[in-house]
Amino acid sequence: MPEKVVISPQWALWSIPMLHWRVGLLTALVLVGMVVVWSIDGCTVKNIIQAWRYQQDYLAVRSHTPDFTLPLHNLTFTLDKKDHSSPVDVWSGSNGWVYSTHCSFKLYSAESAWNCLKNRWIFFWGDSNHVDTIRNMLNFVLDLPEIHAVPRRFDMNFSNPKEPSQTVRITSIFNGHWNETQNYLGLDSLRDEGFQDLLRKYFSEDTIPDTVIMNSGLHDGVHWRNIRAFSAGADYAASFWGDVMKAVRQRGLAWPRVFYRTTVATGGYARSLAFNPNKMEVFNGVLLEKLKQAGVVSGVIDNFDMTFPWHFDNRCNDGVHYGRAPAKMKWRDGEIGHQYFVDLMLAHVLLNALCAR
Ligand SMILES: *[C@@H]1O[C@H](CO)[C@@H](O)[C@H](O)[C@H]1NC(C)=O
Ligand SMILES: *[C@@H]1O[C@H](CO)[C@@H](O)[C@H](O)[C@H]1NC(C)=O
Ligand SMILES: *[C@@H]1O[C@H](CO)[C@@H](O)[C@H](O)[C@H]1NC(C)=O
Repeated sequence: MPEKVVISPQWALWSIPMLHWRVGLLTALVLVGMVVVWSIDGCTVKNIIQAWRYQQDYLAVRSHTPDFTLPLHNLTFTLDKKDHSSPVDVWSGSNGWVYSTHCSFKLYSAESAWNCLKNRWIFFWGDSNHVDTIRNMLNFVLDLPEIHAVPRRFDMNFSNPKEPSQTVRITSIFNGHWNETQNYLGLDSLRDEGFQDLLRKYFSEDTIPDTVIMNSGLHDGVHWRNIRAFSAGADYAASFWGDVMKAVRQRGLAWPRVFYRTTVATGGYARSLAFNPNKMEVFNGVLLEKLKQAGVVSGVIDNFDMTFPWHFDNRCNDGVHYGRAPAKMKWRDGEIGHQYFVDLMLAHVLLNALCAR
């Protein structure tokens, strides 16, 4: 027969003072804690939270924005205002970018684009995304839909079909490799003397390009094994372009305007490859910093931030290109077709930069 467990009344009585002692200590601690918390008034708590928020905003701005593309002295004003908004706004709102209403952004018609580009010489140096962007600009803005593709390396004059006296010269030199049929050498392609000579040639004639749009990153992502190696490659590239520009000035010619167009955020399957967006954001920053130090860059076009919202799948990219023309065939995700407005947006951003003089 199982024994019954009985708690004797003596045991129960003995444990009660023990219980009282513990509860008493706990209560005292809680009361002391409450007094401490109450002694910090509401204002102090608010200040701590605000200071923390400022720091968050500051970090967001610091990590996303090359400082000279943003009117920083107007940012303070905007953050001050935001400070009075509800906490919900702080979390769901700005990532630190300030979109100013007194900045205008123009969508170009063929006529206005031709009026701006006529008699000009635009020089591109970068990866195969330039190839798509140039084609899209010719097709959709400059009224030349019959041009289905441009090669990785070319130098051509285009004229306005409606006004043949208006021409623009576009030169584009692929920089993924010094050999235009190969890939994944990136900035190291500048170690090839033939490639250097090819580039210098365009800046050593009587007329030189008035604007340069350069980019690098995707091929570098594969080639360079670590940030220190890439940094050395970026130093070399910056000093090469610095020398090219100095030679231009020594000949008494006007220094071209040079835009650094940051490389894309790779999308879908390519998010986890050697040119993943985390790495590309750092590479963009390193090269831009070096080019700035060499005095080469006059402006920045942030295509990384433009492509980033569309990089989570392959709807707007094939992984590494945002401007590939849709074909009536299965795309990466098994659906028919895809979207390429992100690159068309870039074409208009380029025109805004090219035409603001
Ligand atoms: C800052 O904002 C003020 C008023 O909105 C404007 O007048 C000024 O030009 C702005 N400065 C810059 C550098 O954008
Ligand atoms: C384009 O036109 C310029 C003169 O405007 C000329 O010097 C150049 O050789 C032409 N390029 C080609 C590829 O026809
Ligand atoms: C470029 O690479 C291809 C192979 O992709 C090769 O056949 C060709 O000879 C190379 N060109 C030069 C100039 O070395």
